[in-house]
This record gives sequence, structure tokens and C-alpha cells, in this order.
Amino acid sequence: MKRDYDSVYQQLAALLEGEDDPVVRMAEMAAVLHERFDFWWTGFYRVTPLPDGRCELLLGPFQGPVACIHIPYGKGVCGTAWARMATVVVPDVEQFPGHIACSSESRSEIVVPVFDGTGKVKSVLDIDSRELAAFSDDDVPGLERIVSLL
Ligand code: SME
Repeated sequence: MKRDYDSVYQQLAALLEGEDDPVVRMAEMAAVLHERFDFWWTGFYRVTPLPDGRCELLLGPFQGPVACIHIPYGKGVCGTAWARMATVVVPDVEQFPGHIACSSESRSEIVVPVFDGTGKVKSVLDIDSRELAAFSDDDVPGLERIVSLL
């Protein structure tokens, strides 16, 4: 499915102009993407330090049903995108070993890492659909460009 990510990029660039707060930026981005494309779950997990010095993914701004709060490095689709430092497209979540099922309704998903100024992953954008194979490589450039606004 071809989605018009360019217009969403323009909309978000205008909406977020002059707004520096990272939570505001993530929240508005989740809302615009979720509403525009009618996704099942759209939101962020942020790389957050643990008391022992390691980091985990901690739930951030999102739209959709209640979600898992903590995701370890390398676990699930989100933790895998973080570890690989690359977008992961999962056409069928049942075929992804270690997929974390926050919602049994979710059938396919895409997770896009968000980088800080030094090339480290600072968060991931996770989008879930109730349809199988809702995402493909066609979605990757548009979404990677959108998260670069963060
Ligand atoms: N399915 C994700 C977990 C997050 S929820 O889908 C909102 C994963 O496997 O990382």
C-alpha cells in the first residue's frame, strides 16, 4: 500500500516548528500518523537508563490500546530494531521469533529507530496494524524521513 508520507512530513514540520520539547514532538507525531493512516497502535519507546547502568526501551507517547511498558535490548521487534540500528518490517508477527504481543489484535508491524545527533538510537517508532502485511519496504523511506524531525 502506498501511503502519502510526504504530506505528513510537511504537516508535522509546520506543526512542530518552534516546539523543542521532545515529548510534545513525539506526541504530535504519533497522533498525526495514527489518525491519517488508521493504524492500530502508533507510538514511541525511549532508550532509558536502568539503575544497573544498562538501558531499556520505556514506553513513550502513543495512540491506541494500552501497551507493554518495558522492552529489553534485543527483545521483540522494538528491541531488535534498536540493536540492529535499522528499521524492521514484520509482515506477520507470528513469524517473528520473540515478538512481544502487547495486543492480540496486532498482525503486522514496522519499527523505525530514531537517532540522536551522535548516531546513537534514542527511541523507536513502533506502528502496528490489525491487517497482515500492512507494511513493506515502501514504508521505510517515508517513515525514516518523518522521524528525522525528532
Ligand atoms: N510488538 C512490539 C511490542 C510493542 S507493542 O506492539 C505496542 C515488539 O515486539 O517489540
